[in-house]
Amino acid sequence: MEPTLKRIAFVTLLAYAALLPMLSSADELDYFKSLQPEWLQDYCVADRTSHIWVDGHVKCKNATHVRVADFVYHGFLNNTPGATNNPNGVAIVPILVAQLPSLNGLNLGLARHDFNIGGVVVPHLHPRAAEVLMVMQGSLYVGFVNSTNHLFATTITAGDLFVIPKGLIHFQMNVGTTPAMAMALFSSQNPGMSQVGRGLFGADPVIDDAVLMKGFKISQHNVQFCKKNFNSTA
Ligand SMILES: *[C@@H]1O[C@H](CO)[C@@H](O)[C@H](O)[C@H]1NC(C)=O
Ligand SMILES: *[C@@H]1O[C@H](CO)[C@@H](O)[C@H](O)[C@H]1NC(C)=O
Repeated sequence: MEPTLKRIAFVTLLAYAALLPMLSSADELDYFKSLQPEWLQDYCVADRTSHIWVDGHVKCKNATHVRVADFVYHGFLNNTPGATNNPNGVAIVPILVAQLPSLNGLNLGLARHDFNIGGVVVPHLHPRAAEVLMVMQGSLYVGFVNSTNHLFATTITAGDLFVIPKGLIHFQMNVGTTPAMAMALFSSQNPGMSQVGRGLFGADPVIDDAVLMKGFKISQHNVQFCKKNFNSTA
C-alpha cells in the first residue's frame, strides 16, 4: 500500500476501535454503568437470557422483576456433597454467578469442598480472586507459593481459616484420618480456575513438547508421559 493510504487505513482502524464500546440500547448502557468502580444501583441480578457475556453474566435483570428468591439458595450445606469417587478424591460444588445470579457484580462467590481421606485439590490458581478457605470438618494441609517461589504451607483443622492471595498457585490435601469438608470464599463471582498440571500438559491443542521439556527440565519421554496422564484424568 502507498504510505498515505496506509495511514488512512490505520486511522480508520483506530476510529473503529474507539467506537466499538459505543453501543446503543439502554441494556448496553446498563452494562457499561455496571463497570463503574462505584455502583449506581443496589444490585444487578444477572439476566440469564442476556446475550452480553463479559466475566460471566453482566446484564442486569429488570429491577421490577427482581424477587427475594433471586437472593436465596436453598439447602447448600444440607445438599448431598458432590461425588468424591474420582482420582483426586475431591468434590467441589461452586456457588458463583452461574448458580446464583444475584452474586453478579458483588465480587463474592463460594465453593464447598469435600475430601476423601488423602483427597487433593491439585495445584491451581484463580486469576480473578483471592480466597479464604474455612475448614468445617477434618484436617487439611494447605499452601500457596508466592511470586518469588516461597511456599507458605501449614496444616489447619475444623474452625480454622487460611487466606490465599489472588492469582497465586495453591493446593489443599486431606491429611486427617476422616473425610474433610471446607468452604472457600472468593473475592469474585467468577474467580476462574487454572490448573497447573492440566493447563500445561493437558492443554488443547497441545503445547509443543520442546517448550515443556525446557519448561520442566525433563526429557521428551517424560513430557509425553505427563501428557498421556492428563488426557485421561482431570
Ligand atoms: C421492566 O419491567 C416493567 C414491568 O414489566 C416494564 O414496564 C418495563 O418496560 C421493563 N423495563 C425494561 C427496560 O425492559
Ligand atoms: C516471598 O516470600 C519470601 C519469604 O517470606 C519473601 O522473602 C519474598 O519477598 C516474597 N516475595 C514476594 C513477591 O512477596
